[in-house]
Amino acid sequence: MNYAEITGWGKYAPPTLMTNDDMAKIVDTSDEWIFSRSGIRQRHYSHVSTGEMGWLAAERALAAAGIDAKDIDLVILGSTTPEEICPNTASFIKNKLGAKKAAAFDLNSACTSWLYGLNVATDMIKAGSIHKAIVVGSERISLAMDWQKRESCFLFGDGAGAVVIEATRTSAGLLTGKMSCVPDSRECLHLPSWGMSPLHLTDDVFVSLNFEGQEIFKSAITGMGEAIADVLEAEGLTVDDIDLFIPHQANARIIQTLAKRINFPIEKVVMVIDKYANTSAAAIPLAMCDALDAGMIQPGMTILTASFGAGLTCGAGIIKWGQKVKPVAESDKEIAPFIGTVFDLMEDSFKHYGVDAAHLLTKNM
Ligand SMILES: CC(C)(COP(=O)(O)OP(=O)(O)OC[C@H]1O[C@@H](n2cnc3c(N)ncnc32)[C@H](O)[C@@H]1OP(=O)(O)O)[C@@H](O)C(=O)NCCC(=O)NCCS
Repeated sequence: MNYAEITGWGKYAPPTLMTNDDMAKIVDTSDEWIFSRSGIRQRHYSHVSTGEMGWLAAERALAAAGIDAKDIDLVILGSTTPEEICPNTASFIKNKLGAKKAAAFDLNSACTSWLYGLNVATDMIKAGSIHKAIVVGSERISLAMDWQKRESCFLFGDGAGAVVIEATRTSAGLLTGKMSCVPDSRECLHLPSWGMSPLHLTDDVFVSLNFEGQEIFKSAITGMGEAIADVLEAEGLTVDDIDLFIPHQANARIIQTLAKRINFPIEKVVMVIDKYANTSAAAIPLAMCDALDAGMIQPGMTILTASFGAGLTCGAGIIKWGQKVKPVAESDKEIAPFIGTVFDLMEDSFKHYGVDAAHLLTKNM
């Protein structure tokens, strides 16, 4: 039988930070309120596109795996914020990597996109139709923040994470994955005007997240709980067999509630939401990279993962980690940093959403 081991991993967290105190200069909020409701302290905002971020994370994953881009058969980009719909952004990443023979497609199931992508690529490797793939999650979601909505603008951040998966005969990689979609919860998280309906012919488009926080909270716990039960049963495991849990990072309280619901010790849960906020499709691979850097992932570990996102898409997976926990090499590729503050970076966005932030710009000081 074929398996699809994770052999490389990489991330890109853009260097410009929006802290909670920065946020409080734009909307009526505070570090104390945000942290107590969500576990978030800061988020990274990007000056480059989803494709650029995804490319660098993928370069780093390739170096960690120690393989050449030309050997990759497939690039999947999981994202809700591709810079273009046509052509897809995965083909940009593929070309910039030099993955000449690879197929490339974008996959959008919102925050669950990377986990859906890992399922798809793993199943293709198990079926024998491909041998090596890169699964990227990348989001530049800061551009979709409506600064008139203090109830949602603090929740999200930008970033990218990627893994290389390779065919092996040894039991490793995503052993069982579950992709699901909670019925009748489609409207509780919605970005109207983010697409072709209505067809946009002007620049006066306001993308504004419609959001029922408590409804999402409940559906997320239900959806992830059911998906977790399914994958545990499929592998004949209980939570006592799980060494580490890497959940989607949307809200620390969602993670804590879920851990309690499934009776899993919170000390074995990877939580990086304080640093990155919710980076949507990038959240799990970013958390995975940080867990590896921190030595939390050890050879042979059994890892649980679970995610949810708009739709309300859900998923879970049991990952058997292989032997590799150190990168073979590090990529020397980089993206030049943004010169300026986060307020300079977001100047156009603040203007677009009618927020007066001119006094915060360095050029006006
Ligand atoms: C958004 C979320 C953090 C809000 O937490 P909550 O405990 O449900 O808070 P509520 O919505 O009940 O708001 C409570 C109060 O805080 C206020 N408030 C909202 N945003 C605020 C902010 N940024 N700063 C200060 N106060 C705020 C509200 O106006 C409300 O005031 P009121 O009681 O006077 O009416 C939480 O519902 C959540 O995380 N949901 C899931 C969201 C998510 O993960 N989405 C992404 C899915 S991938």
